[in-house]
Amino acid sequence: MKFISIQEAINKGKGKVAVRGWIYRERGSNKLRFLVLRDSTNLIQCVLVREKFGKQWDEIDKLQVEASVEIEGTIKSDKRAPTGYEISVDKINIVGLSDEFPIQKDLNEELLGDRRHLWLRSQKMIAALKVRSDVIFALHEYMHKKGFVEVEAPSLSEATSEGGSETFEVKYFDRKAYLTQSWQFYAENIINAVEKAYAIAPSFRAERSRTPWHVTEFLHLEVEGAWMNLQDDMKLAEDCIIYTIQKILKENKNELEILEANISMLKKVKAGFKKITYKEAIKKLNEKGHKIKYGSDFGANEERDLAKYYGNNLLFVTNYPLEILKFYHGEDPKNPGTGTNFNLLAPRIGEMADGSQREPDLKKIQERLKKAKMDLGASDWYLDSRRYGSVPHAGFGLGIERFVAWICGFDTIKDAIPFPRTPTRINP
Ligand code: 4AD
Ligand code: MG
Repeated sequence: MKFISIQEAINKGKGKVAVRGWIYRERGSNKLRFLVLRDSTNLIQCVLVREKFGKQWDEIDKLQVEASVEIEGTIKSDKRAPTGYEISVDKINIVGLSDEFPIQKDLNEELLGDRRHLWLRSQKMIAALKVRSDVIFALHEYMHKKGFVEVEAPSLSEATSEGGSETFEVKYFDRKAYLTQSWQFYAENIINAVEKAYAIAPSFRAERSRTPWHVTEFLHLEVEGAWMNLQDDMKLAEDCIIYTIQKILKENKNELEILEANISMLKKVKAGFKKITYKEAIKKLNEKGHKIKYGSDFGANEERDLAKYYGNNLLFVTNYPLEILKFYHGEDPKNPGTGTNFNLLAPRIGEMADGSQREPDLKKIQERLKKAKMDLGASDWYLDSRRYGSVPHAGFGLGIERFVAWICGFDTIKDAIPFPRTPTRINP
């Protein structure tokens, strides 16, 4: 018989079926065994009656959770079964036995981390991996539809972009190299070729922050477009987020249900995210009892609270003071001293995306570098984007794990990544 997935078998609902997978739960008696089988699509209860199996019963009797099996039998609806259907088994082929599975309900985070490769088999992780995959796919699709060209940058480079202390240094034969923190330096040159470019690639940050929202390797959507201004940039960020949410709501109902995501909150996400300036944000925070001076960077608490104060939805904050911005952000001519930049904040999580209209003028950017006492060193080629036909341009970066965690309502971005890297975890 041809194997079908468990979901296909359930859809069929009656008659002969052949399915295969891993044992999710098992119980039974001397005469009867109930095996709940899982594959990547669903669970199904299978019932085995001793009389049918003769000598094979000894092996069946010893089957443990996570053993892999192939099954043939007759499916029918049964209200008592976990997914409403049951297979009465005629034939079972034991493919791979399992030792006692070392994942139990009460394991602490450390032990679950050690066994991450096994933990991935849980219903929650399977659903999370599917949502993550579909989010990435939707973002690719959106960018292609809008005419953006996917262009990769190397992960290994002598150039650093986001700042010295947060880079991982690696030995590169007899030289030093760094793991990329961002695609942006490459992007700002790439757009002078293809105009609209994007990449979805890992970024590395040697940050010791042990918050639920930081990992040392994350997947980064970065987008850059020639001739784009700050408004275009924010519109693009907003659009790709809405496009992705709509698609996930439509195609991942099952997963969202398993993950107990807040579907009604997601349905309310509409175009026209609220926009406030940094100055307004500071005022609001102080009104609400925070003590924060104009010119200081927001802490994680402040970012989270801001989103809460403004309707518990995604919130754009623009025009940060130049002193706390990287040298490449442009200056707003209407509000001198502030940047043509934005941070997109999400409730609970804080910063989800970060972007700006860039400073296109070589002299100004050199002044900014001087002020920041920064020397681009090996990255000086970055400025060639301003030396040879500089154009107005803008771009942003969106942390994929933070986005997935926000969609799914996770308490940490570690749930949104198969093998999270943190300051204390590089294995498995
Ligand atoms: O704010 P960041 O550092 O901005 C940049 O790297 C720009 N060069 C992006 C650009 O304009 N092309 O990072 C962008 C986003 C953050 O808003 C956050 O969502 C995510 O990347 N991010 C992290 N996600 C998980 N763990 C970390 N340690 C992260 N650091 C940044
Ligand atoms: Mg940022």
